[in-house]
Amino acid sequence: KNSSDIRIVACGTAMHAGLFGKYITEKLARRPCECELATEFRYKNPIVGKDDAVIVISQAGETADSLAALRLAKEKGAFTLGIVNVAASSIAREADNVIYTRAGPEIAVASTKAFTVQATVMTLLSVAIALESGKIDAETAKRITSELTYELPEAIKIISGDDGHIKKIAAAIAKSENAFFIGRGIDRYAAEEGSLKLKEISYIHSEAYAAGELKHGTLSLIGDGVPVIASACDRALYEKTKAGLSEAKARGAMTVFVSPADICTEKDGDFVIALPCISEYIAAISAVTAYQLLAYHTAVMRKTDVDMPKNLAKSVTVE
Ligand code: G6P
Repeated sequence: KNSSDIRIVACGTAMHAGLFGKYITEKLARRPCECELATEFRYKNPIVGKDDAVIVISQAGETADSLAALRLAKEKGAFTLGIVNVAASSIAREADNVIYTRAGPEIAVASTKAFTVQATVMTLLSVAIALESGKIDAETAKRITSELTYELPEAIKIISGDDGHIKKIAAAIAKSENAFFIGRGIDRYAAEEGSLKLKEISYIHSEAYAAGELKHGTLSLIGDGVPVIASACDRALYEKTKAGLSEAKARGAMTVFVSPADICTEKDGDFVIALPCISEYIAAISAVTAYQLLAYHTAVMRKTDVDMPKNLAKSVTVE
């Protein structure tokens, strides 16, 4: 609450959870907040000092670059907070304070449940900063907290229960060599994570774009049957994202639209994943669960090793 700058640093999927935190901190707490890759932060002589807070997110708590970023932030006098899954790991021990994500042991190399809890913790933290700074009232904080605690787990159950539908979409994607994920606002960060998950485990080349950027050059990459997957959990941006997806459709794309059930219709895409109706921050976390399932089924259909994708390690403890 009292720090000048809030910086979030992490690698891979944890960095995407950090982007959720950045977005919500700025939106709810009205505080500038930067989120960046630990791999960059550690080598750029970051402008961080004793009045600042540096949050390091890591599932394993041992990622070499994230640990180095934490040590650098401490050297510069910043207050450091670790958001870590593995108890007593290096980041958990060395940070000034720690919030454990308690997702349980994560076996597969590609982060899944760790992301869900990291994004949840970041949302809770942003809500707490917003409440403490008087930017939201107690009722709003209670509503979002309650949605995270009770409705998000329910939403995830419902999405997982719709696995057969997601499998059909995976079958339509599995033969592709390229895919695109788009979204605006918080959905942009869901797109980043969805895209990473798909390429990590299915080896389909995938890119994520801010939905409005498609027209600035990248639309030229969209051709017949290329999957374009859009999420629009933020109701205020629904029409805009839908319009972006329609532009891709007009160029022949195979479209998938992911959005809360009360606003989307079957016509919004070739395939539609209707999410349980919850506020944008929480719906976006649940959209990532749908993306994880999509990546999983696509990978199984492509006969890749879902748990141990080639060339990747669960915890990157060397540079
Ligand atoms: C590896 C894993 C990713 C993970 C990243 C960061 O690259 O394959 O799934 O997101 O490390 O790991 P961390 O443990 O710091 O969250």
